[in-house]
Amino acid sequence: MCGILGIISKKDIITAMIDGLKKLAYRGYDSSGLATINDKTIIKRRASGKIENLEKLLEHDPIKGNLGIAHTRWATHGAPNEINAHPHATSKVAIVHNGIIENYKDIIAELKNKNLLNSETDSEVIAHLLTNFLEEGFDINKSIMKLLEKLKGAFALGILISNENKLIAVRKGSPLAIGYGENQNYIGSDAVGLAPYTKKISYLEDGDWAVLDVDKVEIFNQGKLVNRDINITSISRLSIEKGGFKHYMHKEIHEQPTAIGETLKSFIDLDTKSLKLNSKLFNESISRITMIACGTSSYACKVARFWFEKLAGIPVHIDIASEYRYRNITHSDNELVLFISQSGETRDTIACLEEIKKTGAKTFSIVNVSESSIARLSDETILTLAGPEIGVASTKAFTTQLFTLLILAVKLGVAKNKVSPDEEKTIIDDLIEVPSLMTKTLNNEDKIRNIASEIYTARDVLYLGRGEAHAIALEGALKLKEISYIHAEGYAAGELKHGPIALVDENVPVIGILPTNKIFNKTASNLAEVYARGGKIISITDQKGAKKINDISSYIFSIEECSELCQPLILALPIQLLAYHIAVFKGTDVDQPRNLAKSVTVE
Ligand code: AGP
Repeated sequence: MCGILGIISKKDIITAMIDGLKKLAYRGYDSSGLATINDKTIIKRRASGKIENLEKLLEHDPIKGNLGIAHTRWATHGAPNEINAHPHATSKVAIVHNGIIENYKDIIAELKNKNLLNSETDSEVIAHLLTNFLEEGFDINKSIMKLLEKLKGAFALGILISNENKLIAVRKGSPLAIGYGENQNYIGSDAVGLAPYTKKISYLEDGDWAVLDVDKVEIFNQGKLVNRDINITSISRLSIEKGGFKHYMHKEIHEQPTAIGETLKSFIDLDTKSLKLNSKLFNESISRITMIACGTSSYACKVARFWFEKLAGIPVHIDIASEYRYRNITHSDNELVLFISQSGETRDTIACLEEIKKTGAKTFSIVNVSESSIARLSDETILTLAGPEIGVASTKAFTTQLFTLLILAVKLGVAKNKVSPDEEKTIIDDLIEVPSLMTKTLNNEDKIRNIASEIYTARDVLYLGRGEAHAIALEGALKLKEISYIHAEGYAAGELKHGPIALVDENVPVIGILPTNKIFNKTASNLAEVYARGGKIISITDQKGAKKINDISSYIFSIEECSELCQPLILALPIQLLAYHIAVFKGTDVDQPRNLAKSVTVE
């Protein structure tokens, strides 16, 4: 995924664009660049690596302008270097692009002036194609319409045309927003990137293009002027600052009690202690659920499967989006297909949702970004109230996904008379305790930091759990991999003896996740098998469990005692903190780990 920005103003915009790019860096950060127009001449500055490199370049090779486009990249086609960095330009057109042009090779083959291509990217052809249309005499609108017809794939574009004092934006398949200011207007990949400038946002629809001036914005679709609602985004500049934390991820880990508190208040009437969730699709007719997601969001599904099976008594099927879309599965009328996504822009999940919609199945999504593609494509959607999540490693979005899924499971259980009114009230009482339980757990962060200091040099780490804790083990391994670059694997604890236990020796820390519940003893036995082979065990349990497991544990971290339903919500915190502190000890880039982007908008 990449970040796009554009500004048209009465004053110089170069510094403002750098500020905005820094807010968008979570979308991709392997290279960056910007372009402006001076005396009808396109001028670019581009740099590989972090945006600070572009800033340094501008310090000794400055440019000025009141109209510009900017881009921060996560490479898809072409290495992350200066040549492949955006903007890409001809003498007449400069573009920045987020997405993938699937037919770029065909377009290259058709270009008269192939030797003018400088980069290895799919994006550069857009500048040449648009230049050709303009040189054939088509005006801006007609040229953009021809571009929309020609390009295949997903794209959000920011465009400058050397002899036009206009900022142009085009959207098809990748998100793009318009920001409205005073004597200046903006385009951006999302509201986070526009937060430094404005809270007045419109989202373009597929096939839209916009022509912006300092005091006017025109949006077109199919050649006709269209209106797009202007919303006031809740994302403020403050909400995307680090707030005194060294890393966004650390801030977002500590925001979880608040995020869950907000989510709780939105779903539970605290006076009557009853659910207040209105949903067209979540009703007693649902007899089967399929849940589809990627990465951390898929682990939220793996936890929630137990809740739907336990509380609503229905079968649940789970798959990762990049696999499910190729399966030939029919969906019954009383089945609901859930799509879980923090960004709402994960291409694998979108592509799967588009396939499933063709079958006529009912689709429901849980996303953290309103107006995102997945929210717009689903029959019904629920917004998690985590607030903007900037750290690439998902934390507060994960626990708010879990909380939302648990509420839906309770709602379905009540609707199907599987959960009695008394049981509902007991569960709600337990849920109301979650924010304070999280706070108490986070207050013991130093214990996790000490454990991290003991194991951060490991080359391999195993995470073990059973039931819901198996999903937490998978999530813990992913967190560690993606921000510390240590190889880690999550395993079903019972599965270790069927082969992977061969990996165990004194150099392989084994994180056992075993809260007190009916399968505690089973997991404890699996850890004993590890101990017998010299493995170093870190047990994540609760006070009761700690007493039983301390003889074989090198380290123990106890979460607050809580109901079994709520355990996964609390267990998420120590595994997030462990990955965070290990990465800090290793000195990796916690918020922008190598090779990654916050939302993967390519397949
Ligand atoms: C999680 O820490 C990772 N950044 C990644 O696995 C992420 O969960 C996955 O790419 C799915 O993203 P989404 O929730 O925005 O769809």
